[in-house]
Amino acid sequence: MTGASAGIGRAVAKQLAASGVGLVLVARDGHRLDELAEELRDNGAGPEVEVLPADLSDLSGLALVEKRVAADEAPIDLLVNNAGLGYEGPFHSQDAIEISETISVNVVALVRLTHVALGSMAARDRGQVILVSSMASLQGMPMTAVYSATKAFITSFGEGLYEEHKGTGVTVTTVLPGLTRTEFHERGRWNLDKWPSVGWQNADAVASATLTAAAKSRPEVITSWHNRALAVITTKAPRHFRRATIGWFTRRN
Ligand SMILES: NC(=O)c1ccc[n+]([C@@H]2O[C@H](COP(=O)([O-])OP(=O)(O)OC[C@H]3O[C@@H](n4cnc5c(N)ncnc54)[C@H](OP(=O)(O)O)[C@@H]3O)[C@@H](O)[C@H]2O)c1
Repeated sequence: MTGASAGIGRAVAKQLAASGVGLVLVARDGHRLDELAEELRDNGAGPEVEVLPADLSDLSGLALVEKRVAADEAPIDLLVNNAGLGYEGPFHSQDAIEISETISVNVVALVRLTHVALGSMAARDRGQVILVSSMASLQGMPMTAVYSATKAFITSFGEGLYEEHKGTGVTVTTVLPGLTRTEFHERGRWNLDKWPSVGWQNADAVASATLTAAAKSRPEVITSWHNRALAVITTKAPRHFRRATIGWFTRRN
C-alpha cells in the first residue's frame, strides 16, 4: 500500500485493516507510518502491519519496496499503487526536479511495482492490483500538464493490464477520483480559490468506492456520481470543444 501516510492511502489502509487484511505501509514519512500502524493495532488489526519507509522518487527507495513486493515468503495479494503528487503552475516555469519527482512517483514507481507484483501474482494465478489515477487523466490539463499526463498514462496502462489478465485469477482496477479533501493540493501548491466548492469527496468515500470496485474486479471506477456525470460530458464531447472549455475555465480561474 503506497502513500499510506496521508489522504486516500491512509483511508484505504484503515478500511483494509478493519476487514482483517495484513498491510505493508509505504511512504517517506516513517514517523506517520509508525503512528498509523500503532493505531491500526490498537483498533484490533489482527494480521501483521509492516512499516516500510521509502522514497519512491529515488531508485534505491523504489528497490527496497520492489524487494518486499517480490518476497515469496510473505506474498502480496493486493498491491495498492496510490502514492502520487502533482504541482500546479505554468510548465515552462516549473521546477525541473519537481517535474522529475512527479514522473518518477506517478509513473516509474507505479509501473515497476506493478511489474514485480504481477510477476508473482501471475505465477500464483491470484492477486489484485489497484492503480490510483484521476479524473485529470481524461483530459490534458493546462497548468497541471505534467500531472494530468502522468494520470493519462496510468488510466491507459490499467486498461491494457485489465484486458491482459482477463479470465485469470489476477485483476487490475484503475481508480479515477475527482477533487478530494487531502493534503494533495497544498503539497502541490494548487490555487483552488475559484474552483467550485461542490463535488468534493472525502478520502473515506474514495477509499470505500475503490475497495468496492476492486472486490467486484471492475476495470475502472470513477468514485462519485458527480464525477461520473462529468466524465460522460468530458468523454463524449468533441476533443477541440473539451480542450477549449478546460482552457477557458483555467484562464478564468
Ligand atoms: N486529492 C485529490 O483531489 C486527488 C484527485 C485525484 C487523484 N488523486 C490521487 O490520489 C492519490 C493519493 O493522493 P492524496 O490526495 O491522498 O494525496 P496526499 O494526501 O498528498 O497523500 C499522498 C501520499 O503519497 C505519498 N508520497 C508522495 N510522494 C512520495 C514519494 N516520493 N515516495 C513515497 N510516497 C510518496 C505521501 O507520503 P509521504 O509524504 O509520507 O511520502 C502520501 O502518503 C495520488 O495518486 C493522487 O494523484 C488525488
